[in-house]
Amino acid sequence: MGKKIFSGVQPTGNLHLGNYLGAIKNFVDLNNNNENSCVFCVVDLHAITVNQDPKDLRNNIRETVATFLASGIDAKKSIIFNQSKVSAHSEAAWILSCIARMGWLNRMTQFKEKAGKDKEKASIGLYSYPVLMAADILLYDTTHVPVGDDQKQHLELCRDIAQKFNNDFEVKDFFKIPEPLIQKQFSRIMSLKDGSRKMSKSELSDLSRINLTDDKDQIINKIKKAKTDPLPMPSNLEELNKRAEARNLIGIYSSLSGLTLEKIIQEFSGKNFSEFKDNLSQVVVDKIAPISVEIKKLLNEKDYLDKILLEGSKKANDIASKKIKKIHELVGF
Ligand code: TYM
Repeated sequence: MGKKIFSGVQPTGNLHLGNYLGAIKNFVDLNNNNENSCVFCVVDLHAITVNQDPKDLRNNIRETVATFLASGIDAKKSIIFNQSKVSAHSEAAWILSCIARMGWLNRMTQFKEKAGKDKEKASIGLYSYPVLMAADILLYDTTHVPVGDDQKQHLELCRDIAQKFNNDFEVKDFFKIPEPLIQKQFSRIMSLKDGSRKMSKSELSDLSRINLTDDKDQIINKIKKAKTDPLPMPSNLEELNKRAEARNLIGIYSSLSGLTLEKIIQEFSGKNFSEFKDNLSQVVVDKIAPISVEIKKLLNEKDYLDKILLEGSKKANDIASKKIKKIHELVGF
């Protein structure tokens, strides 16, 4: 039986290779299987949990759609829309925030990381953000959620919320309990400047990530400047696992080329990083540069992108409005 897929990406600019390998590449594979029904959401309500310039946000919403399409998602097969246009998301988030417990949210590590030292100044939205994410998923009777490793804990919270709602209102299977779809290997792509930190949109140095809008020369330059250790290329898996930067670069190579780690190690064992980096650049350029060109082309077709969002939001609304109506009935509204 086909899967019901839902996933979201924040329109906060700088979509990067981590977003691609951790999530978007899987969206494309899932979308290509005709048995699945897929919903891919540009989560603009999530984006405003931190300050956004309205003009940038508007552009970034379009850029996220352009990235979906340029990466190979087919808008005829999948629903692509932005979250703010389907009001059931905000409504369900409120109702589910009365189900979720403070203790559960207090355990969320991403809030702790994002709020940093000054928790008092973080928005309430940033704190309750995983509840909105649960609403997104549960409104569509989602069975599977493709995400990167950093979203695993939010998925577990979503399952807890769904279970508690089903128990509280004695409706055994009302909310489906969704399964995460996380890559077995390299579900967390690390910064090119520090193998212990996640590749991230918000990292100050642009050299830390490969943006999906980078051109060939930018990609080559960033890989050339990527941090490595002073040793030659590792000669076995055990050694690889102890060397964060080498592991990350070889992981990226493996994910994009489809070659196993063993095979890559065998080929480059004991060689200089520069030789490996030339090969890595080639693989990244082959995959990412055409996506970058296509994104830029699509960004000139604003009406087309807006039309996709509008049509997508109508279809999403058809599904979500039915579910929220049932939620209202169960709650007693
Ligand atoms: P966001 O916008 O931060 O990231 C989008 C997707 O990219 C993945 N990702 C990574 N994967 C591997 N390595 C990395 N360095 C890396 N950085 C990001 C993320 O895991 C994610 O899959 N809360 C979500 C968006 C969301 C959502 C949802 C996801 C909202 N509602 C419902 C699934 C279902 C987020 O902020 O992702």
